[in-house]
Amino acid sequence: MSEATARPTQSGTPEADLRIGVIGLGFAGTTHLDAFTSLPGATVVALAGKEEARLAELGESRGVPNLYADWEDLVARDDLDIISIGVPNDLHHPIAMAALTSGKHVFCEKPLAVTAALAEEMVDAAKTNDRVLEVAYNHRRRADVQYLRRYLDDSPIGTVYHARASWLRRTGIPGLGSWFTNKAMAGGGPLIDLGSHVLDIALFLLDEPTVTSVSAVAYNHLGSAGRGGRSAGVSVQGGLSPFEVEDFASALLRLDNGSSLQLEASWASYSKAYEDIEVELLGSVGGARLAIADYATSGTVTLYTDVAGAPSIIRPDVPVPAGHHRSVIAEFLQTIRSGEHAYGEYALHRSRVVDAVYRSAVEGREVAVEGGHA
Ligand SMILES: NC(=O)c1ccc[n+]([C@@H]2O[C@H](COP(=O)([O-])OP(=O)(O)OC[C@H]3O[C@@H](n4cnc5c(N)ncnc54)[C@H](O)[C@@H]3O)[C@@H](O)[C@H]2O)c1
Repeated sequence: MSEATARPTQSGTPEADLRIGVIGLGFAGTTHLDAFTSLPGATVVALAGKEEARLAELGESRGVPNLYADWEDLVARDDLDIISIGVPNDLHHPIAMAALTSGKHVFCEKPLAVTAALAEEMVDAAKTNDRVLEVAYNHRRRADVQYLRRYLDDSPIGTVYHARASWLRRTGIPGLGSWFTNKAMAGGGPLIDLGSHVLDIALFLLDEPTVTSVSAVAYNHLGSAGRGGRSAGVSVQGGLSPFEVEDFASALLRLDNGSSLQLEASWASYSKAYEDIEVELLGSVGGARLAIADYATSGTVTLYTDVAGAPSIIRPDVPVPAGHHRSVIAEFLQTIRSGEHAYGEYALHRSRVVDAVYRSAVEGREVAVEGGHA
């Protein structure tokens, strides 16, 4: 254990304070740290990560008194209410299991785990120990996604019979050679990394249907040839892994309400934009489209309707402020305070869909999603 000398913590209301340990110092861990630190009634008292200098700098600048190189030492503390997980995907399961079984709530980065079987164990542990398990599906909290959800509440586009959800990058393999491209550590490539976000947005907008079956393909033409990499500033963790995952995947999902969803994700592809996130809903009397090119923060929503019998396009003005990670973390804290039971079952369904996509791509046929029912 490498515990530093105690420093004063952030101010907060002592009796209402939830005490948090954050694990990970990259984009995810730092975002969690800053979100918890900015919210009332929450104090980050411990931080863990392998990069010694960054750990010391974050501890100093954010006023976190207890610093660890290994997650095991942080989770072993008996004075924490919450463990926040921002580490490579394969560590989500062991950290969450240790935290939940020792009575802590867990905020976990997506994906819940590298396989649905491990994700199921995490959800079971949350239930058995009655602790909240929440997952960082932060993009769903974007103002434009929430706007579309409110728009759809009155069924203005009728029955949605088909949807398309994609997150496509031109050259965006995160850290060629880092844990991201290692099958055992990441669980997969862009499908589990980016596809899980747009799958989450689509299922949220579609009112949480169950995905019953999947027919998928996955390719690896660019990554395996050393093309399409974005190495700088992506993973703070080094390493030299071979490229073992897909760089593009596409899947047709059948839903229990009779409709369908086309899901696509790429880290690298000779296609139009550097970074393209889209969700499109085709309804019986209208349509809606979310198109976020290069992380746009306005002009992302388009509605398709008929006005006085003429096909019409409406572009509502929906500004998208930053801070959707902060929103999901604020909701997580509220869930704990209100005593709600939230065990991450919805995220387990997303993991089962991701598993089915990979299985279908390997087997070359349509497969059933575990737990899905027609
Ligand atoms: N929701 C989002 O928008 C979003 C964005 C980026 C990443 N993520 C997710 O966040 C997670 C981390 O991604 P990242 O980009 O921050 O990765 P990263 O490689 O930049 O950072 C990983 C961190 O984990 C730490 N770590 C590794 N092993 C450890 C151990 N044994 N004990 C303590 N710390 C350890 C490393 O030291 C490092 O600080 C992944 O699950 C990824 O999918 C989510």
